[in-house]
Amino acid sequence: MIKIAPSILAADFSCLRSQMVELKQAQADWIHFDVMDGHFVDNLTFGPKILSEIKKISDLFMDVHIMVSDPQKVYHWFKEADLITFHYEALDSDLQRSTLIKEIQENGIKVGISLKPDTPVEVLDNFLWSVDLILIMSVEPGFGGQSFIPKALDKIKYLKNQKDENGYHYLIEVDGGINNVTSVPAIRAGVDVLVAGSYIFGGSIKENIAKLKRQEG
Ligand code: DX5
Ligand code: ZN
Repeated sequence: MIKIAPSILAADFSCLRSQMVELKQAQADWIHFDVMDGHFVDNLTFGPKILSEIKKISDLFMDVHIMVSDPQKVYHWFKEADLITFHYEALDSDLQRSTLIKEIQENGIKVGISLKPDTPVEVLDNFLWSVDLILIMSVEPGFGGQSFIPKALDKIKYLKNQKDENGYHYLIEVDGGINNVTSVPAIRAGVDVLVAGSYIFGGSIKENIAKLKRQEG
């Protein structure tokens, strides 16, 4: 079953409570929570206070995507997350990356690692056995509403192959420009989790989630 993770970057924050209720009724699986620091990306979003508020009104799995330059410091602020995904590009060495993976897991939180569109997928080879999720960015991180970059599909296929051949347990997530059209090749390539912001919140939440779920199979 494909999981749908609405990105609340595109939500209407003036009525967040009713939007969270709608997501639940529409059978969203996760909530995708984009943290941006104005440094790793050219945008600023929300912090731990908003995460706590959302946790009070929603019991959905919290998928926290930290687009920040200092993930080693910032992840501590998001311990209410179910899963924290940091960017490969934010750290300088594989030692730092594997230490952070271990640290987050030791806190009882699942961990993901994410790649920007221009980073080759093979850089993750040393981490495939250890992570719970790999997030392939199909737009440049920073903003919602951009167009899907098709070269993400080859990375998804590679990760799906590696997973099947070696019995790894990670989920493959794709983020950026996902709608009822771009979700089709992404699912075919082997994705497990679809993040979608502007598509889901840009119309009827219920219908749009149903359309994404219908693309499967
Ligand atoms: C972009 C974010 C995405 C964004 C996706 O940096 O990581 O989660 O909200 O938005 P859409 O679905 O509009 O491309
Ligand atoms: Zn995201």
